[in-house]
Amino acid sequence: MGRASTPHGYSRAMKETDPAELPDRKVYELLTMLVVPRPIAWVSTIAPDGTSNVAPHSYFNIVSNAPPVVHITSAGEKDTLRNIRSTGEFVINIVSRDLLDQMNLTAANFPAQEDEFGWADLARTPSSVVAPPRVARARAALECTLRQVLEIGNGRMMFGDVVRIHTAPDLWNGDEIPPERLDAVGRLGGSAYQMLDGVRRLDRPRWEDVRSL
Ligand SMILES: Cc1cc2nc3c(=O)[nH]c(=O)nc-3n(C[C@H](O)[C@H](O)[C@H](O)COP(=O)(O)O)c2cc1C
Repeated sequence: MGRASTPHGYSRAMKETDPAELPDRKVYELLTMLVVPRPIAWVSTIAPDGTSNVAPHSYFNIVSNAPPVVHITSAGEKDTLRNIRSTGEFVINIVSRDLLDQMNLTAANFPAQEDEFGWADLARTPSSVVAPPRVARARAALECTLRQVLEIGNGRMMFGDVVRIHTAPDLWNGDEIPPERLDAVGRLGGSAYQMLDGVRRLDRPRWEDVRSL
């Protein structure tokens, strides 16, 4: 009979965990190491006093495509949430590999009166419909207006209607966006990020093709 666990503390059987029995921090770590990769919304907002803010949010996804609605979630009360609540507007900038270090810097817990654009040496460019600026070097950005905030646990889900979509000149030809050109980074657990090293393309099978296999 082998031992029940390996020298590194891994069990030989599937491990079953009741999250209710773990400290909140462990549950956060476990969920964010398992729900991967997550897209990163680099969210720019403006405070009522005019201070710009930009911070990454990987609790981010599409909620509806008709009409186009996305959500980001703040884990607790943060400047991004406060700004969106008071102004009703935000921009989601997509993080390409070349922006990773600057994005990471803006995740630091800056005081509300500090402008992360300045600290991260990030050029901004005006948005078309909303007041918060876009990150000039982002290869894509979504201008959003707040539709609703939904509170679940410590999550503050902000739903935004997408009112403008910006894409770099060489990114979208009206048909395809080659993933390598967007070069988006995904968030993994802890400090890990997923780069786009090698893309595997898989056509979605149609039933007509599958049934004749
Ligand atoms: C890649 C990445 C993704 C993050 N995703 C989230 C998130 O989804 N929700 C959240 O509340 N904080 C998230 N954070 C942490 C915030 O960016 C951080 O707390 C930041 O200071 C918030 O800034 P703010 O107070 O200006 O809104 C993330 C950090 C990183 C580096």
